[in-house]
Amino acid sequence: MIRVENLTKYYGDVCAIKGVDFTVQDGEILGFLGPNGAGKTTTMRIITTYLTPTEGSVYVDDLNIAEHSTELRSKIGYLPELNPLYSEMPVYDLLVFVASARGITGRRFKEALGRVMESCGIREVLHRNVGELSKGYRQRVGLAMAMIHDPEILLMDEPTAGLDPNQIAEIRALIQEVGKEKTVIMSTHILQEVQAVADRMVILNKGQVVADGTTTDLMAGFEGKAQLSLEVKKATKKSIQGLGAKFPEITVREQKIEDGLGRLELEYPTGQDLREQIFGYAVEAGWIVLEMSRRQARLEDVFRSLTVEEGGAHA
Ligand SMILES: Nc1ncnc2c1ncn2[C@@H]1O[C@H](COP(=O)(O)OP(=O)(O)O)[C@@H](O)[C@H]1O
Ligand SMILES: [Mg+2]
Repeated sequence: MIRVENLTKYYGDVCAIKGVDFTVQDGEILGFLGPNGAGKTTTMRIITTYLTPTEGSVYVDDLNIAEHSTELRSKIGYLPELNPLYSEMPVYDLLVFVASARGITGRRFKEALGRVMESCGIREVLHRNVGELSKGYRQRVGLAMAMIHDPEILLMDEPTAGLDPNQIAEIRALIQEVGKEKTVIMSTHILQEVQAVADRMVILNKGQVVADGTTTDLMAGFEGKAQLSLEVKKATKKSIQGLGAKFPEITVREQKIEDGLGRLELEYPTGQDLREQIFGYAVEAGWIVLEMSRRQARLEDVFRSLTVEEGGAHA
């Protein structure tokens, strides 16, 4: 089990993460989800012991990683973001290199090589230069490097970034396969990725955990909110702001005004039906209502509501 406790990291004056807490059970695939700059890479680098936290601790099987880093490095594999590889090297040489850095040579290397060739599907590119490979294959090679010492825990930082849809599907399938035997933390800024691969997700926003649970857990916490879509003519930024000011229980989640046509996504607690008041306000503000419809909440709404900037603007 991995236990992350009150993790905080400052880069100089910049606070990258603050008070991050979560746990990962053995054999679980955890999706570590958050927009760019949320602090995913920072957290993962701390768990892999490459970076020291300003405050807080990480425990693997109740061992503090700060005190047992050598021991724990043999238990952890890490596929870094953007997977930088020496492009002039054949895949085989690269694997020899990372293995020997871990003291794996001779017969033990042969065994390890056989294992990662199989699990990462790189047999056919073993003697090719890394620079000649497709991004999908390069990612497989990166994964093979991360797994050469057969770690119990695998951390992958945005493993599908920059891949095309076919490659993404292949890497996801690979992660799921690997995840059957290992504890996996996979970071991503894409919600669908987490849904496709992970058992549970931790959502990070601006350096803090804003949600932790399965899809079902997160949806349950969100069902208390009604979603209303509006399409109106003659809406202005100011009159939209006025709606939020007049009804504090309404959150304007999204707004778009184009060629005089306004599209709004509103949210308010269920149990109160505010449609009549909203319609009344629209008339008052001189909007012409073309459409008003209630929507079923989706996981995407949950994610957006947790990571969106204050005031409803979507980054
Ligand atoms: N080496 C660094 N020096 C200063 N600030 C950094 C450094 N690395 C990351 N940051 C800042 O810390 C925050 C979190 O970054 P990061 O952990 O890379 O997030 P993510 O991986 O979720 O995109 C961001 O605001 C980023 O600009
Ligand atoms: Mg990152």
